[in-house]
Amino acid sequence: TYVIAQPCVDVKDRACVDECPVDCIHEGERTLYIDPDGCVDCHACEPVCPVEAVFHEDDLPRQWAHYRSVNAEFFELASPGDGRGDHRVVAALPPQSS
Ligand code: F3S
Ligand code: F3S
Repeated sequence: TYVIAQPCVDVKDRACVDECPVDCIHEGERTLYIDPDGCVDCHACEPVCPVEAVFHEDDLPRQWAHYRSVNAEFFELASPGDGRGDHRVVAALPPQSS
């Protein structure tokens, strides 16, 4: 699966969403998440992200390795779905400004 890592937080460009053929990229409050059960590894999302937040799970930079779980666990929350909160790891981050 592909994974959205920390550079998306507080950016949410959403270019990736338009590229995904299976609509498996979902929106939280501060970032977007890829549903690993939906992603077909088509790769379309990765090159369009302006902040290079998207990685194949095998290519995640070490400091963002935990985002594989962050993306997966978002869909295991009690009330998963677009716009409903964030994974606790993302929610705990200080404001990300560039
Ligand atoms: Fe985020 Fe990049 Fe998509 S900033 S919403 S992963 S295009
Ligand atoms: Fe969609 Fe990206 Fe996977 S475009 S199918 S989330 S590789």
